[in-house]
Formats: sequence, C-alpha cells, structure tokens
Amino acid sequence: MRILVTGVAGFIGSTTAELLVARGDDVIGLDNLSTGDISNVPRGVTLVKADIGDAVTIRTLGPFDACIHFAGLIASGESMEVPELYFENNVGQTMTLLNTLLSSGLNHFVFSSSAAVYGDVTSSPILEASPMSPTSPYGASKAMVEDYVAWLVRQGKFRAANLRYFNAAGATRAHPERHAVETHLIPLALDAAAAGTPMSLFGTDYPTPDGTCIRDYVHVLDLARAHVAAVDTLANRESLTVNLGTGVGYSNREVLRAVESVTGHDLEVRELGRRPGDPATLVASVAAAKEILGWTPQHSSLEEIVRSAWESRQ
Ligand code: UFG
Repeated sequence: MRILVTGVAGFIGSTTAELLVARGDDVIGLDNLSTGDISNVPRGVTLVKADIGDAVTIRTLGPFDACIHFAGLIASGESMEVPELYFENNVGQTMTLLNTLLSSGLNHFVFSSSAAVYGDVTSSPILEASPMSPTSPYGASKAMVEDYVAWLVRQGKFRAANLRYFNAAGATRAHPERHAVETHLIPLALDAAAAGTPMSLFGTDYPTPDGTCIRDYVHVLDLARAHVAAVDTLANRESLTVNLGTGVGYSNREVLRAVESVTGHDLEVRELGRRPGDPATLVASVAAAKEILGWTPQHSSLEEIVRSAWESRQ
C-alpha cells in the first residue's frame, strides 16, 4: 500500500513507519521537524519536510491508499495556556490536510485521537460509547477532528479509524522517547532519577486510593501494531473508534515507585498542587480494540514500559 504518515519523525509515528516499511508498504513521511527528530525517521521512508497545512506540497504527493495522521501538538497542560495554538494546529491544519488529500485521492484515514476526548469520566474503565467531554483544549481539538471525520465518512468520502490512545510510553532502542519540551511523567521521572534532581508530583488530593491521578500506560510498540491493524481492518469496515490502552491503571505514585525500582535510584519527590486540565482517572476499556482490530497489548506491563524507556537512554 502507498501510505502517508504525518508526524513521521515523532515518537509513535516513527515506530509505526518502521513496521510499515518492514512489511513492504511504500511509506511517504510528512514532518515539519518542529518537534520531531530527523534521526527518528526509519530507513526506507521517503521524507517530505512540510507542514500538514501545506496544501500545495501535499497535493503533489497523492494519491494514497491510506494516511495515518500523527502530527499534532500533544501536551494537555500547555493547551490550557495557548488554546488557540492547539485549535489552529490540531484542527485547522488537519482540516486542510484532509481536504487536500480528498482532492488528490484517499481511501483510508487513521487518526491519532486520545483518551483526552473523554474528560472527567466517573465510570471506569471507559467505554468508547462514553460521551466526549474534554477538559482541555487539547482533548477538545481531538474531539473536533473526530466529529469532522465522522461527517466525511457519513458522506462516503473515505473510511476512517479513530484510535484513542491512553498514555503512550515505553520506547524501542531505535526510537527513544524525545520531545523538544518534555511534559510526561515517565520520561521526566527517568530524567530526575538519572540526574538526581527533584521530581514534581502534581496533585495529591484526587479522589483515588493514594490521592494521585491514575493513568493507563501503553507501550509505543503496541500502539504502532494497532495502527497497522487499523489500516488493514478498514478494508472490511467503513469506520471504527477504539481505545488503545491495557485496561489497567497505575497511580502517579506507583509509576514513580516503578521508576525507582527499575533505575535503582531514589527520587526526591516534590508534592505540588494539581496541574490544570488533568482528569483524575483515565483507564481504557479494551474489549473493542480486541474484537475489532484483533489487537491486544504485548509489551505494556508497567515494568517493561519503564525498563524499555530507561534502556533506550543508556
Ligand atoms: N505529572 C506529574 N509530574 C510531572 C508530569 C506529569 O505529576 O512532572 C502527572 C500529571 O499531572 C498527570 C500524570 O502525571 O497526573 C500523567 O501526566 P502526563 O503528562 O504524563 O500525561 P497525561 O495523562 O496528561 O496525557 C497523556 C498524553 C495526552 C493523552 C493522555 C491520555 O500527553 O496526549 O495521556 O491519557 F491525551
């Protein structure tokens, strides 16, 4: 298949592109390299350096059998500060990308959505049928694209998959997790463990057993496998929306303990107030991904996630 992968120099995009190249797909990678790292782009990918909103360039690249759209801004905390940037990048530019691809020919679209579309959900684990009620502009930007994509599917423009990631983590040796500005719990805790610097813990008064937020961590390699399965599943299905997680949640304190155990370093934890926009608990129901994609996580124990992330830095 001829597949466009946006955000190909990023953490999940590069890992997925590697699996696609390995199975013989023709992968064209799009990345503006604003946050992605060129050294992540796997051999065999044709890299085009451009924005997803660059209609002129993208029009010359098609037609494609499929597009897997990873590119976007990803920090829910930051999106509370600069919502306009999140809506412009994640919604405005994605609409330009989609409209341009439609005009040059596209059959299947796989979208990097997020558990952030749910917001504060009282039931756990979270089913895909739960209403979208995001608590951050980041989550809202993902929900808006899902709505737009649903209209295009209903009008018969293409087939589409929304993959709602829970907390992407872990790493492979070829693709360590590197963000230009790091905001995620596990990489920051590994940085703190390695450097012997203090670690901030945001919020200890949540309605959870130990007072800290609970998240469902899924290994980047498992996420990559799910994208490949989604591209293939769209051959037999008009649309799908599935959670990608493990169904098991860990509190922030449990994650910090796992980091201490894997690295052999004690963390100096500074307990701070809540970070705005953080839901208390996000744990996936994973039955739909198994049934629809035939996908179950294989590398996503907390131990393997933390260990693989730690080893990828050594
Ligand atoms: N946290 C800390 N200290 C830090 C960083 C994070 O205590 O230095 C806490 C956060 O407040 C939160 C938890 O660790 O309670 C996880 O935070 P992350 O920033 O690692 O991840 P989020 O859950 O905020 O968001 C991630 C992705 C989103 C995605 C979401 C889905 O960044 O894109 O998972 O579950 F939508």
